[in-house]
Amino acid sequence: MKRYNIVLVGGGSTWTPGLLQSLTKKKEEFPLARLVMYDINAKRQEVIGEFAKILFREKYPELDFEYTTDEEVAFKDVDFVFCQMRTGGYEMREKDEKIPLSLGAIGQETCGAGGFAYGMRSIRDMIELINNVRKYSPEAWILNYTNPAAIVAEAVNRAFPEDKRILNICDQPVNLLRSYGRLLGMDPYEFEPIYFGLNHFGWFTHLYDKDGNDLVPKIKEIVKERGFKPADAEQRDQSWLDTYAIVEDMLKDFPDYLPNTYLQYYYYPEYKLKKLNPDYTRANEVMNGREKRVFEECRRIAKMGTTEGSAVVHNDAHGDMIVEVAESIAHNRNKIYIIITENNGLVANVQDDAMVEVAATLGANGPRPMGVGKIGTFYKGMMEQQMAYEKLTVDAYFEGSYNKALQALTLNRTIVDAKKARKILDALIEANKEYWPELK
Ligand code: NAD
Ligand code: G6P
Ligand code: MN
Repeated sequence: MKRYNIVLVGGGSTWTPGLLQSLTKKKEEFPLARLVMYDINAKRQEVIGEFAKILFREKYPELDFEYTTDEEVAFKDVDFVFCQMRTGGYEMREKDEKIPLSLGAIGQETCGAGGFAYGMRSIRDMIELINNVRKYSPEAWILNYTNPAAIVAEAVNRAFPEDKRILNICDQPVNLLRSYGRLLGMDPYEFEPIYFGLNHFGWFTHLYDKDGNDLVPKIKEIVKERGFKPADAEQRDQSWLDTYAIVEDMLKDFPDYLPNTYLQYYYYPEYKLKKLNPDYTRANEVMNGREKRVFEECRRIAKMGTTEGSAVVHNDAHGDMIVEVAESIAHNRNKIYIIITENNGLVANVQDDAMVEVAATLGANGPRPMGVGKIGTFYKGMMEQQMAYEKLTVDAYFEGSYNKALQALTLNRTIVDAKKARKILDALIEANKEYWPELK
């Protein structure tokens, strides 16, 4: 069997240890020859890299592994690029969340004004990365998790319209499928989902079992009776448990489909604004939780020289998804994943150039997405407003346009008021001077 070469961009990510373990688990079905971790922050990456050395020495001794900050070493002769970078780090995530909250709007890293700020930072680095990859590996598949995926996908699609080997993905649909699996006591790998929307803004219309029965009505019933929890509830912070619990309310108000959890910010911006603590946001929870745990555990393992008894990864949906996506492409498996792609009629009554999130079979020639036909007026209205916000954000970036940025934020359901949008925009410009293009 062919053995593949992979580079992991954002080697110092909190998700890297889990991803490395997913690769290790899959070494029979998807064997690697070489794995390189690449990051611009050598010190951060080193901690994870030293953990990786121990993990591979024990579980993947045949693997040629190194970590580097050198682009040529990283991108030469690779088959797959796995990407998960965070421009500006958690320090900037904290600002994305706290600045809008201090001005009366939701503070979330991918939704609303926070997602706007993060998007304006991610675009530049993602374009630079893709140019660098293409210099050394013109044929490599680039599988990208970098957030906010909706805005990154829109920008990358505009910057590289001819490049058919870039695929933007999100693990939240997989997290949801696993959670439905737990709820029903069924294996989520047997589900066949039908899904439509934008990233962090979509709905499962159907979820078929092996025999073609739609499980959506049953899931709705159980959620109404017993509430909803993530598949890995025991390892989740309280804010994530609250996020899943609110699905019960969403289903009461809009019972047609199963909502992506991120819709809570758009359905209930006022309620969420009251609930979020402007002095202690998700960024603080992550810095004091996942980031601390992952880095402490990696340091401990490097010191002990063994991964025996380690619990560095909890949620493995993230790592499993990207590895399975790569495997499905590499071996032309045509398995079904929910991915981001250009609409072109998939949602029949939404414009062609929207970057939508839908189910697709994934094979050697990339995704073959499944259309959902025409959608109802409520969903069309929601989607088009959000899509306009996303497109205007990307316009603002490429045109350096203050006016487009103001239009974008005004259209966002978590803001709405133009005077509020202007105040938030001005504060975000100030905070992002180092990262954004100048907006005139
Ligand atoms: P993190 O800050 O822990 O990790 C990001 C790493 O990227 C850091 O080590 C940083 O030094 C590095 N980096 C920053 N800019 C870079 C660049 N230009 N080139 C190479 N490396 C760079 O963040 P995290 O919370 O672990 O998340 C990583 C990314 O993955 C974020 O964008 C996050 O939103 C995303 N993510 C997406 C999904 C999804 O569903 N799409 C799921 C999980 C995480
Ligand atoms: C989900 C989303 C991701 C997000 C991740 C972590 O998996 O799909 O886009 O990055 O959650 O969010 P957190 O707030 O825990 O960093
Ligand atoms: Mn996501």
